Amino acid sequence: MPIEIKNINNIEKFFHLYNKNISYMFYINKYFVPINIHFGKRAELQNIPDSMKYYNRPYTPCYREEDSEFTLETACMEYSLFGITDFRPPTLSISFENGSNVFELAYKKYEILHSKVNLKGLPSTFSKNDGEATTLIITLEERDKRLAVDLIYTIFEKHNVITRSALIKNTGIESFIIEEAMSFSIDLKGFGYDIINLAGAWGRERHVDRTRLYTGERNIGSVTGASSHIQSPFMAVCLEETNEKYGEAYGFGLLYSGNHKFTAYVGTSFSTRIVAGINNKNFSWILDKEESFQTPEAVLVYSENGLGGMSRTFHNFFREHLCRSLFADKIRPVLINNWEATYFDFNRDEIIEIAEQASNLGVELFVLDDGWFADRNADNCSLGDWYVNLTKLPGGLSSLANEINKMGMQFGIWVEPEMVSPTSNLYKEHSDWCLHSGYCNYLSRNQLVLDLSREDVQNYIIDKMSEVFLSANISYVKWDMNRYMTNVGSAALATKRQREVSHRYILGLYRILDILTQKFPYILFEGCAGGGGRFDPGFMHYMAQFWTSDDTDAWERCLIQYGTSFIFPPIFMGNHVSIVPNHQTNRITPIKTRANIALMGAFGYELDLRKLTAYELEEIKIQIDVYKEIRKLLLDGNYYRIGNPSLDNLFAWQIVSKDKNEIIAVIVQKMMIPNGPKYSIRLEDLKEDALYKEMKRDKGYTGSQLMYVGFDDMEFKVDFDSMLLHFKCIGEDVYE
Ligand code: DGJ
Repeated sequence: MPIEIKNINNIEKFFHLYNKNISYMFYINKYFVPINIHFGKRAELQNIPDSMKYYNRPYTPCYREEDSEFTLETACMEYSLFGITDFRPPTLSISFENGSNVFELAYKKYEILHSKVNLKGLPSTFSKNDGEATTLIITLEERDKRLAVDLIYTIFEKHNVITRSALIKNTGIESFIIEEAMSFSIDLKGFGYDIINLAGAWGRERHVDRTRLYTGERNIGSVTGASSHIQSPFMAVCLEETNEKYGEAYGFGLLYSGNHKFTAYVGTSFSTRIVAGINNKNFSWILDKEESFQTPEAVLVYSENGLGGMSRTFHNFFREHLCRSLFADKIRPVLINNWEATYFDFNRDEIIEIAEQASNLGVELFVLDDGWFADRNADNCSLGDWYVNLTKLPGGLSSLANEINKMGMQFGIWVEPEMVSPTSNLYKEHSDWCLHSGYCNYLSRNQLVLDLSREDVQNYIIDKMSEVFLSANISYVKWDMNRYMTNVGSAALATKRQREVSHRYILGLYRILDILTQKFPYILFEGCAGGGGRFDPGFMHYMAQFWTSDDTDAWERCLIQYGTSFIFPPIFMGNHVSIVPNHQTNRITPIKTRANIALMGAFGYELDLRKLTAYELEEIKIQIDVYKEIRKLLLDGNYYRIGNPSLDNLFAWQIVSKDKNEIIAVIVQKMMIPNGPKYSIRLEDLKEDALYKEMKRDKGYTGSQLMYVGFDDMEFKVDFDSMLLHFKCIGEDVYE
């Protein structure tokens, strides 16, 4: 029974969601306010902790005039509101028709369901079998019955995770405006925590940023219409001493691909509030009577094994309970993509030449990137005109796909369905189909954004993309999106609802993804937005692969993939080997290292094989064989970061199979240091008494040696040098 409800100290409703490792506890106080007690390591309570009591302080308004012992100013709230003695960031803000924004919510009832509930219109995590997840729904009601809110919690049996969301219901007779509807808030006891977020820009996504918060507010988020390169919908909170391996850490992820916001706040109470959800910038929502508004789902992770433990919890949970693609637990094909090889400048013969060479080297999937349709010879036209360019590709997609299939490879294509070029036929026919606020339209990459808040536009995209996907034997689709949204508005919505457009866009996008991914379950979809600009847990519900970044430089990828792994499993990261000097950084790195970094994910190439040396081609053949040998491990192996590429000259990544019988590790040295150190690294999570063989070197090591003494058979010769190790267990209990 993972949810317990009991009476402690005459407090009637004490709710305890738990599994073997974690507890999430709150109770309903005498004013029917849900108060958080604990989220963290599994615990049992004999009494409601004293720390929950409030002792009168000057300057603090009390919740009830006659009772100086309770104020929301310091209470650990489950769902915070503004204007009623809590001065911290709220979870829900509403404007009523009389102009007031003050309201109270009081506990009314609870309900327990023995599975995870799917959220309507939004991605959500899921349970597959009865009993693996239990859901608690707490209903709060407003005093004048104008609204009610369902707080939805789910605990999973095998994961140190709580999911949360809120359903806001208009139960009154008047409409009201939701100004802010966050998915959850939680008040963690204590302050001075380190706040970690994944920040960046195009070409340098998800760099880890760690900063301490003693007072005030730390806000991160996106207002670009997408989850963005700038900040991932993620925040971690940990103690100063928490590191990769040790210490407590909380991770918060949001299943949302649009404007999001995460706030960490320390006020007078010396507790730290975390609130996350849809960004309230440029957002409001008119909720008419009998309507409801569902917030996106948040995933709350607790780890007592440092940041590494937090990441592994996210990885396992997302793989098992978030991504519904059939490919989630399938090995990913080795692909070659023609973008950095040809950009827009290709024809059928050239594509066939590259494909033939790729197939000889063992590549399994050929991806035709941007430029295959209409007049698309540059990025200034044709988006929206989804018919094949027969001058470039005589015979069309179908004939090309057949030719590539004959070589023993699958065929995939690139699309950017959410956009329109102003010179396209689509724009000429439907100029009101793009987002616009009545003000001038700002172009970015020469394109405009289609208004996905409109059902007619959604249906157009569903139909057009279905046509494309059915036009040839297509096994893979790269779904790109290459600009942020500006002057967001919709011609199809009433003036007073214009602040709803960004969220309606995302709901429209999810409807499209939902329909297309179910209609084409055999297609491996790869999410992309100018690289990793929409690599988020919301999208991951539909897709099992993401283009991690347009930056293919091996060293930059170390930083990007390191940060990305804080929340996303490596197998979801699309990583390609490209040529040097690198197109984004002009940096030269060894081909071995480019591959070793890319091997930790969904592996592929993005270069013109016709221009490589015999040595490089031979290397590629070996790399592909290696990937095919190790890739099963990436599916459910446990992932460890050893060292930090932005701080250490030597760092490693390691993946260990669940039975600990097989390990791969990639070790990277950044710079050659003259007369430098003799490096050693300690691997993790092996069987102490087992004997492991490193397959390439054909050399044996005990588990305890690799974990406690260290592995130091390494020699690096150049900057950005690296090595890949592959260990297999060849004997158990060798020292018993
Ligand atoms: C941006 C993507 O990230 C690239 O990989 C490539 O597909 C281009 N778009 C094509 O326009």
